[in-house]
Amino acid sequence: MNLDVPWWRDAVFYQIYPRSFCDTDGDGIGDLEGIRRHLDHIVRLGADALWISPFFRSPMADFGYDVSDFCDVDPLFGDLDDFDRLIEAAHTQGLRVVIDWVPNHTSSAHRWFSEARSSRDSPRRDWYIWRDDRSDAQGGSGPPGSPGRLPNNWLAAFPGVGGDTFPPAWTWDPGTDQWYLHFFLPEQPDLRWGNPEVRSAMADTLRFWMDRGVDGFRVDVAHGLGKDPALADLPPELAPLPVASINDRSETHPYLAELRGVLDAHQPPAMMVGEVFLPTTPQVARYYGSADRPELQLSFNFPPLFAPWDAAVWRQRVEETETSLGPERWPTWVLSNHDQVRHRTRYGGSEERARAAAVLLLTLRGTPFLFAGEELGLEDAVVAPQQRGDPGGRDGCRAPLPWDASADHGWAKGSPAWLPWPPEASGARNVAAQEADSDGILHLYRRLLAARRASPALRRGTWSPLDAHDGLLACLRHHGDDRRGVVVNFSTSPQPIPATVAGWNVEVASDARPAGPGLIAADQALLLHPAH
Ligand code: GLC
Repeated sequence: MNLDVPWWRDAVFYQIYPRSFCDTDGDGIGDLEGIRRHLDHIVRLGADALWISPFFRSPMADFGYDVSDFCDVDPLFGDLDDFDRLIEAAHTQGLRVVIDWVPNHTSSAHRWFSEARSSRDSPRRDWYIWRDDRSDAQGGSGPPGSPGRLPNNWLAAFPGVGGDTFPPAWTWDPGTDQWYLHFFLPEQPDLRWGNPEVRSAMADTLRFWMDRGVDGFRVDVAHGLGKDPALADLPPELAPLPVASINDRSETHPYLAELRGVLDAHQPPAMMVGEVFLPTTPQVARYYGSADRPELQLSFNFPPLFAPWDAAVWRQRVEETETSLGPERWPTWVLSNHDQVRHRTRYGGSEERARAAAVLLLTLRGTPFLFAGEELGLEDAVVAPQQRGDPGGRDGCRAPLPWDASADHGWAKGSPAWLPWPPEASGARNVAAQEADSDGILHLYRRLLAARRASPALRRGTWSPLDAHDGLLACLRHHGDDRRGVVVNFSTSPQPIPATVAGWNVEVASDARPAGPGLIAADQALLLHPAH
């Protein structure tokens, strides 16, 4: 066994959106204690690490991604003692803990921003990005602070509830007569990472949590930190997109390298997985840095998440990931998170497909990230317009997690949960019901995670595609003398199992539907091992 493989390469991560995991104090919103009480579910699943979405002090304009104090717990979720208890319990049970870290922006309620906006002379002014009105000479027109005077054509990320166009990425500050930049909501002003004081203050927030024992950070909008210093207009073809989805600047790389230095200098060192929300995998690859100047240890790579349920598209995205990242930069795989419609829903809603997708996700080369609830086969909740609260329209995937079939679904009695329950929460789609069904999707995830843990080929081996019939994605995983085959049938009819692995034994099947000798059923996936 190779002892210098870092833990996060071998790990399976489990993402928890704390509002939605389990409420213990009766306010209808999940809390840190709710996570602590259910760590056994994650251990039994076989995951190795948690990623906990933000629980820091926040006015909750973006449900916690608008942080007003990076070094405290919002009272909705508990307090620092709850966090200490949670991390201690997680470590005792062998789980690593990675927390969200939101360096691109603060809340507009953060003390730093209050100070910055108090006067143009404030020592904090330069911590954020301010611009004057566009002058007449620059083509501006209209009264001060009006749309005709916007400093450039950049757009922010959220269209607002029910909206379909993106608002400007600038908000006018009438107190000081300048615009400030925000890639997301006006309540999320962007920090100016070119300012060494900002970098140093943010590095301190990392040290604060490392000293409390966290094992790593999920870096929100990691690709957003560096900005074009000229703040130039985007070309017409890019201008309709939110600037946060295309900002890919060389300025960001030294900042990430510096942060990596901060993590590496801590004992024990911590890791970071970056949210690099850019359209192509070759762009994502650059955020790992180089051997002599490393940046992120892991990066999310969203092009596969955006692939439809289609074998040819998936093969292309997996091959592109293999080629762009090469042997040194370790890939990650994710199908669902708190920002996207759950994959079962996206792929059309069938449980068979969700089960086949689980085999796909957990047998690719790289570190998989599960989103709490996918192991129950959850679909997005149907959220009525008047119940929607998220400025990005992402409420459905954030529905609360049902622990049992009772009316409260294992959440504390008190207020109703903050969002409606996902479909079938009182039937098959809760932890207790899935626990009792040994053929259910929860047990499939457990079998897959156990198979992965037991097989060096699955955890660390090479990935090579096999020739296969249209509609199939098939591969070999190989490490030393350990080999596995994986066949995923994306099509709606049975297909022949590729010849190379046709005689192999089934180690895990996504479901028990028989397809006939030598065949794999529609929307089915098989993990195979050599017959001898
Ligand atoms: C990231 C988060 C998303 C949040 C945004 C702004 O994309 O995943 O939930 O709204 O950053 O912080």
